[in-house]
Amino acid sequence: MNIKRNGLLLLAVAFCCLSLTACGQKDMEPKKAEYNLQQIVDSIKLKDGFKPEIGIVLGSGLHAIADEVEVVQTISYDDIPVFPNSTVKGHEGRFVMGYLEGVPVILMDGRVHYYEGYSMEEVVTPVRIMAKLGAKTVILTNSSGSMREDFKPGDLVCINDHIASLVPNPLIGQNDDKLGERFVNMSNAYDSSLRETLHKAADTLKIELKDGVYMQVTGPTFETPAEAKAYASLGADIVGMSTACETIALRHMGVKVLGVSCVTNYCPNVESAGTSHEEVQNVAKQAGEKMVRLIKQTVKAMGQEN
Ligand code: HPA
Repeated sequence: MNIKRNGLLLLAVAFCCLSLTACGQKDMEPKKAEYNLQQIVDSIKLKDGFKPEIGIVLGSGLHAIADEVEVVQTISYDDIPVFPNSTVKGHEGRFVMGYLEGVPVILMDGRVHYYEGYSMEEVVTPVRIMAKLGAKTVILTNSSGSMREDFKPGDLVCINDHIASLVPNPLIGQNDDKLGERFVNMSNAYDSSLRETLHKAADTLKIELKDGVYMQVTGPTFETPAEAKAYASLGADIVGMSTACETIALRHMGVKVLGVSCVTNYCPNVESAGTSHEEVQNVAKQAGEKMVRLIKQTVKAMGQEN
């Protein structure tokens, strides 16, 4: 039993190293020191007097949060120069600024992914912009596959940690000292006090909320049974194609992060049928109503704490 488990772990680690080498290559080239983030920020004109405090990233199928915002302004990603826009069905491409529960927020309605061919630096540009525009806290939402029988499709999970070792780190390359320090402490990547606030909000609303470790993979393929088994043996509960890289970029800038995932499907280590993008979107949409109520209650509590 032990030998089998150790063997599996060794295989998983070897797989990690190989994948890291393969997918990290593109990002290993030295980056230009003159990073155009500031130019992008300067091109965004916020309505007078509006300064977002909380950023919220809407994962696929989770756009309903945008309908709850008292909108002050929207900006299409297409109207921002040198800005990545999503090529994926179900992902909008706009910032929404406004008030949620009286708190000034900026929503990223649609994100871009590494599997679309963007560099990791491009993938994290939108969250960096949110931080530059004033967000001191960012709530990242996503959909995920579950590698545990007790994390069912439709469940919401408070992300308490992540494994990002299988994707290129967005901070590889010359450090931009204006953004943050070279070496980033990730011991409290998903802020423990924000997680407490989220759990209190879930209790208030009587919404069941699990806690789990999120693993980011590149996608766009869903997992094979062996991959899902390997990730579970490494300590991951749920898996997805986003989020951890954004958390890294935000922690680099000193922004507090809260991560909430909507389980949309079982991975094939639990249920052999596998999944599809349609299934992911449909389940996320159904669970979206629960997610909206939870995020609203959490933002309200965060507003009262400040
Ligand atoms: N795997 C990876 N990413 C995902 C999944 C999955 O099963 N479901 C939703 N996003």
